Amino acid sequence: MLTVKDKIHKLWGGRFREATDAFVENFTASVTFDQTLAFYDIAGSIAHATMLQAIGIINSAELKQIQAGLESIAEDISSDNFSWSVGLEDVHMNIEQALIDRIGVTGKKLHTGRSRNDQVATDLRLYLRDMIDLICSKIRELQLGILGLAEPETETVMPGFTHLQVAQPVSFAHHLMAWFEMVDRDFDRFMDCRKRVNSLPLGAAALAGTNWPIDRHLTADLLGFDLVATNSLDAVSDRDFAIEFCGAASILMVHLSRWAEEMILWVSPQFRFIELPDRFCTGSSIMPQKKNPDLPELVRGKSGRVFGSLISLLSMMKGQPLAYNKDNQEDKEPLFDTVTTVLESLTAFAEMIPAIVPQRDKMRAAAEDGFSTATDLADYLVSKGLPFRDAHDVVGKLVALAIELESTLTEIPVAQAVAINALIDEEALKRLTLENSLAAKDQIGGTAPKQVRRAILDARQRIKS
Ligand code: ARG
Repeated sequence: MLTVKDKIHKLWGGRFREATDAFVENFTASVTFDQTLAFYDIAGSIAHATMLQAIGIINSAELKQIQAGLESIAEDISSDNFSWSVGLEDVHMNIEQALIDRIGVTGKKLHTGRSRNDQVATDLRLYLRDMIDLICSKIRELQLGILGLAEPETETVMPGFTHLQVAQPVSFAHHLMAWFEMVDRDFDRFMDCRKRVNSLPLGAAALAGTNWPIDRHLTADLLGFDLVATNSLDAVSDRDFAIEFCGAASILMVHLSRWAEEMILWVSPQFRFIELPDRFCTGSSIMPQKKNPDLPELVRGKSGRVFGSLISLLSMMKGQPLAYNKDNQEDKEPLFDTVTTVLESLTAFAEMIPAIVPQRDKMRAAAEDGFSTATDLADYLVSKGLPFRDAHDVVGKLVALAIELESTLTEIPVAQAVAINALIDEEALKRLTLENSLAAKDQIGGTAPKQVRRAILDARQRIKS
């Protein structure tokens, strides 16, 4: 619904002879969603006004008025006492009009040397910088949770998988630390993206720069920007920083989704490698026995909307000629949705990971089940002089025999093993323990408990700095 004020005048209404069509007004408005930027818009305006005063375009009494007016608007917005108007199109014009309503003619001076084009790009960057900081601190919280879970589990043996088939035994902590590494790179990706986000577009004005002798470095300092955008056309038009953010977010969501998939498998009765406390699960309305891992499932499902946002932004940008086009208004909802989804997914994981209860016996039994030490036996035969390919063949035959006998490799009667290859002796079979297998992977990045303990210590140091 239009308010009376909307019908009377638009901030840009000078050259217009008729009111905006009602559908067009609604269709072109963004205020229903870009309100998210309100406090960043106000911060940007206060910095801009401070700079205008420093270069003598407004006087200090005017600056005080503008600042007080904007602060009172901020208070009203935070206490939900601000009335947003679709007729005023977007967050920028809602706030500017409110300022003019509150302080009169001085309010009309705020927009000197500025356009909504550089204003919105500035707001978006301020917002995203804050959100990246929030996301990065959530990643660190999650990493601390992983370390806490991993520390007592360096000697816990589980099967490592390839093709989802039992491959070789690994330490449970080692598996967890793989997740640590993935999100650690995500952290770095966000921080790297932040460098390019943290550049000031304000001063580019509509597209060409401004006639006023503005001090862009002062505005940048006031807003904590490290850089001043060096080309006005580029500054108002490109949204590559938002695309890049959604790219980093998509990779993070791929990681969380893969991890979610493992947790879903691990809590299933077929695996039972872990238990998740009831508070993270839900039941079925029909099957009384069910305890469903909804939380990881939802994170896995939500990854889709983040990838979707990345594609939305790429598609929105690809056909745009320089400089600003209204298409760019479509950057906000995908970006905001991505931020919310990433923050919620990280929160879900940060809460859930420390609550995982490892089922050590189940993991061990699964590692014992799938001939996971077969490669170790092959390596033993190589150490006795057999070329690796032949050793591989010998152990393959032993595995086939064990399947036939329904036994493990160590349970094969020595006589039958020796019949396959004379290099095999009791000692060889006896040494085939899960512990020996793990301990032998004693190189950097390997799964020997000693290495994993060191990796955990290093990781703790790394995230401290
Ligand atoms: N609401 C607009 C956006 O989000 C603000 C910039 C509008 N600029 C313009 N020249 N119409 O992109």
